[in-house]
Amino acid sequence: MPKDVLGMRAPDAPEGWAPVPEDRARLCALPAAAVRDPADLVAALRRDEVVLVQGISDQAHADLVLADATMALGLLERLKVQAGYASLHGHRTSVGRYFMTVNRRDDYHFIPPHSEGTPNADIQLGSLYCHHNTTDGGDNFLFNTDTASPAWSRLREVTTKVDLCGRQLGRRDAAMLKIVHGVSLPGDVLAPGSEILEELPAPLPGIRLYNVLAPVRPVRSRLLDRDVRVLWDNVATMDFDCAAEFMRLLQGTGLLRQPPGGADIAALDGAHARHVWRSGVRFDQLFRARITHRLLAGELLLFNNLTWAHSTSNWTPQSGSRQVVAAFA
Ligand SMILES: [Fe+2]
Repeated sequence: MPKDVLGMRAPDAPEGWAPVPEDRARLCALPAAAVRDPADLVAALRRDEVVLVQGISDQAHADLVLADATMALGLLERLKVQAGYASLHGHRTSVGRYFMTVNRRDDYHFIPPHSEGTPNADIQLGSLYCHHNTTDGGDNFLFNTDTASPAWSRLREVTTKVDLCGRQLGRRDAAMLKIVHGVSLPGDVLAPGSEILEELPAPLPGIRLYNVLAPVRPVRSRLLDRDVRVLWDNVATMDFDCAAEFMRLLQGTGLLRQPPGGADIAALDGAHARHVWRSGVRFDQLFRARITHRLLAGELLLFNNLTWAHSTSNWTPQSGSRQVVAAFA
C-alpha cells in the first residue's frame, strides 16, 4: 500500500473512542533488597503484573537480579541466547552481561506499542533498566492485551510464505530458505486464499516467495501457563493504525512532545517506515489496561512480553539525555 494512502496525520478519534484506562494496581514495586530471593517477583509476574524493582545500584546489579528472576522462571538459557543475538544483528550493542541498547531513534520519535520479536523468536519476558533519564519525556507505556477481544480479528501478522510451484526442495535449499528468509517447511507453504501483500524476489528458480497478512495465532505463555494472543513486532509495527492510536493516547495524556510549529505523524512515529497497511484496530478494544511510568535511574522493569506490549513516548531533544537498556528471555 503506498505511503500516501496510509495518511500523514493521526486521524481524528472514532466515535466512542476512550483512552485505555491506567491501572496502577497491576504494577508491583519491590525494593532491590527484597528481590535477593526472587519469590515475590516471580509470583507477581505469574499474576500477570508488571514488576518495578527500585534501588538497583548499577548494571552488574541489574544483570544479577535478572539472572535470578529468569533462573526461577526457567528462562535463563533464553536470556543468554537473546543477549547473544544483540551484537549479532548489529543494530543493537550489548550492555553488561544480558542487556542491550534500545533501537536508535531520531529526534521527537515515539515508539508505538509492540511485543518484542515475532512468533518464531518466542520471547516470553521483557525487561528495561534505566541508567538515567533527564529528558522531559521518554515515558514507558505498557499495555495489557485482552486475549479474548474480538479486535484480534482485525489484526494481521506480516509473514513470509513460499509457493513451491510443485517443486520438491532438497535439504540444503530448505535450510537456506529457513536461515535467509525465515521460511520453515512445511509450515510456511502458501495456503490457498492467503492475503498476499507483495511478491518478493524468487530465492530459487521455479519457486515464489510472498509477504502475506496472516491471522494472529495463539501462543503459550510460560509464565501464565495458558494460550494468549500477542501484538508481535510483525503485527504492530506493520500497522499504521497501531501508531495512530498511540499518538492519540499521547495527545490525550499530554505526553506528546512536538517540535516548534508542530509535526505530523510521519515525523514523530519511529516505526512509520515499516507500516504497510491499516487494520482499523482500536486500543480501547484491544487492551484491558495500561501502566505509564517514567523510569528513574536504578529502576528495573520486568513484564510478560506476550501479554504486555511496550512503547515509549518522545521527548524534547535538548531537554536532557536518556539511557535505558533492554533485555529479553
Ligand atoms: Fe521493543
